[in-house]
Amino acid sequence: MLPRILEDEVMDNEADARDYDAMDFTAVNQQFVSDFLAYGPPRGGEVLDVGTGPGRIPIDLCRHSPRLHVVAVDLAEHMLALAQRHIAAAGLNHRIRLLKADAKRLPFRDQAFAAVICNGSVHHIPAPADCFRELHRVCRQGGTIFVRDLIRPASEAELEYLVKLHAAKANDQQRALFVASLRASLTVTEVQDAVQQLGYCSETVQKTSDRHWTWAATRLSSAS
Ligand SMILES: C[S@@+](CC[C@H](N)C(=O)[O-])C[C@H]1O[C@@H](n2cnc3c(N)ncnc32)[C@H](O)[C@@H]1O
Repeated sequence: MLPRILEDEVMDNEADARDYDAMDFTAVNQQFVSDFLAYGPPRGGEVLDVGTGPGRIPIDLCRHSPRLHVVAVDLAEHMLALAQRHIAAAGLNHRIRLLKADAKRLPFRDQAFAAVICNGSVHHIPAPADCFRELHRVCRQGGTIFVRDLIRPASEAELEYLVKLHAAKANDQQRALFVASLRASLTVTEVQDAVQQLGYCSETVQKTSDRHWTWAATRLSSAS
């Protein structure tokens, strides 16, 4: 198993934010939104998107669900600025509220949201258990927690294979971002261990593509 090598937690320099935003995540974002809505569509109340980056997922989500309102948070001001621009261009200022906030200490009351989502952000966080605990805390009982991120490859050969397969058209900087993200990611077992600490069974975490894990759960009543 490759060792976990952390990357910068917050993508808060202009070049990183711009390079990330220039990558085409249309297919993975659409997959995320349709999987989330198929698993546990929110019934009333707001959705929280944690580590929203350039805000593409809340935009897709609002386009699919015309009555939905989203609060989207990130710690990086450059990302929030990009998100603000995309949300305005999509005409969704009235349905998506952006906020600078830390996934490890969310500024919301317990059980504030009908659903909590998070895509591609857990690997940035040095101690992800803090983030999982907060996602659980701010989701209301019976609401949906839907989290997805990359899986750390088992070997250099697997890493190389994934980079060739999924970053063939990327520039050097974008390829380097993808490699760093893979190295910083968790294994499925590490995520299962973390959610079990909160009382969820390990089956709520599954490998859902050649490079992603997904934690899909109904928020339990027991707060740990
Ligand atoms: C790889 S991007 C993913 C963005 C978006 N969710 C997507 O799917 O395109 C990860 C984002 O998480 C943000 N992030 C990292 N640590 C964070 C934290 N502790 N709290 C909030 N956001 C964080 C980064 O600034 C970055 O914008």
